[in-house]
Amino acid sequence: MDHPSQGIGVANKHPTKNPEFEGWAQPYTLLDLLFSRVRTRVVEITAPREGSKVLDLGTGTGGQAFAFGEKGFKVVAVDLSEKMLSVARRRNKYGNVVFKKADATSLPFRDSFFDVSCVSFVLHEVDHQTRERILAEMSRVTKPGGTTTIVDYALPKNPVFKHMVFSFVSSYENNNYPNFLWSNLVKLMEKKGIRVEEKHSMFMGTIKILRGIVTKPWAVSQTSVS
Ligand SMILES: C[S@@+](CC[C@H](N)C(=O)[O-])C[C@H]1O[C@@H](n2cnc3c(N)ncnc32)[C@H](O)[C@@H]1O
Repeated sequence: MDHPSQGIGVANKHPTKNPEFEGWAQPYTLLDLLFSRVRTRVVEITAPREGSKVLDLGTGTGGQAFAFGEKGFKVVAVDLSEKMLSVARRRNKYGNVVFKKADATSLPFRDSFFDVSCVSFVLHEVDHQTRERILAEMSRVTKPGGTTTIVDYALPKNPVFKHMVFSFVSSYENNNYPNFLWSNLVKLMEKKGIRVEEKHSMFMGTIKILRGIVTKPWAVSQTSVS
């Protein structure tokens, strides 16, 4: 079977526990209803080529993975949380979408296996070091010239609205959220061999979608030598 799950070949060396999400799996599907426009927009912006193999990291209950799957792409979606994955699997009606338990900082896939990698609403949850490791793994498992899409919180420009959004989101998110907002994501992606080509915003500037191209010059030069 020509499915992306065949790319699994590297052991998951540093699995990490993620108890924070274990109790959220079922209510989280309600957010998927709210975010359905975002999911569709992410697929449009990512614009994978026909037959693309897509990786969705930190998939949760699978909303973004299903949006890619619906368009016929071969999708592998990973998460650390068994509960999230069991809800995702129960909802899955696509033969071209598979869910796996894996740590996004240490993915069990070989280099340059996917055409597209996507991470939505995960990077604000994790500390700076973990964020870097996730981006490094996205770069590693995506082909040079492939696409990576990052979807996450942003702050609107209007100062009053900005303050309201920040206060509201801070009330339920962990301490990594402010750290994520002030971090230079574009620079961090570039450091990991991903060049940001497009920036989009949704819901009055509260959500950003970054579309990057994987350049990783180190991988290209290795390929051309051999
Ligand atoms: C806020 S949810 C986002 C879920 C989904 N991507 C979405 O857009 O709805 C964050 C998810 O990331 C997962 N997660 C956090 N750290 C992870 C890691 N290191 N590896 C894999 N999944 C991780 C959590 O278990 C959780 O399901």
